[in-house]
Amino acid sequence: MKARVFLLRWVVFLGVIASCLAVHAETYNLLDDLGFWLKYRYQTLEQKELTNFIDQKGFEGARFFFSDLDRWLTFDLREYLHDWHVKVSLLSLKYRDLKHRPDPLAAKVIKEYQECLVRGEKVMPRVVVDKRNKELIYRYFIPIYTKKSCLRCHGNKYQLIPSYATKIKAFYPEDRAVGLKEGDLRGVISIDIPAQSVRYLVSSQ
Ligand code: HEC
Repeated sequence: MKARVFLLRWVVFLGVIASCLAVHAETYNLLDDLGFWLKYRYQTLEQKELTNFIDQKGFEGARFFFSDLDRWLTFDLREYLHDWHVKVSLLSLKYRDLKHRPDPLAAKVIKEYQECLVRGEKVMPRVVVDKRNKELIYRYFIPIYTKKSCLRCHGNKYQLIPSYATKIKAFYPEDRAVGLKEGDLRGVISIDIPAQSVRYLVSSQ
């Protein structure tokens, strides 16, 4: 009898563990799918809108694009999910504008991504659980890389366009976003989704 109860307890225990792991895998897959969708959206904007803005307005065009990008991506993701609790932010340790300075948790993930690149490994986007005002928030971090075309505003002093360099000094006294190389991590796009929204989305899949 005792052995049977013991066995039953183990079965229940393993069942609970298995279901927890399953929830984690489902949550990761959900966020990974959303990350993939948003990365594609970002790449389209970068290729089309950023290029158009710079062609038409030069430095001011890029300034406007990157200043508003997180607002546009937040709007797109909210529309896509029909959920107004999700939020997207553009964050970088090498920030130009102070408003893109990462919080400690995002800074930790960005450093991990950088270490990954130094080791020559591919960055696998991370999901981290954050707690704000007693609310659990899932966060997914999409890496953004520096391309050759970015160097006229983010490269070394020989690559920066001189008139842009003057504007950078004037507008961004705290600028850290120069001296980058092609392939360097430029920053991350952070998707923040409350646990409640994740539960709803996982259950409705
Ligand atoms: C014509 C100049 C210009 C070019 C080209 C440019 N940027 Fe920037 N970038 C800026 C400016 C100006 C800002 C600051 C925007 C703001 O005020 O929020 C910025 C900000 C950013 C930010 C937000 C974080 C921060 O540093 O404040 C990211 C990420 C970024 N750029 C990535 C890129 C990438 C990737 C490319 C190439 C595909 C690129 N930029 C090309 C001018 C440029």
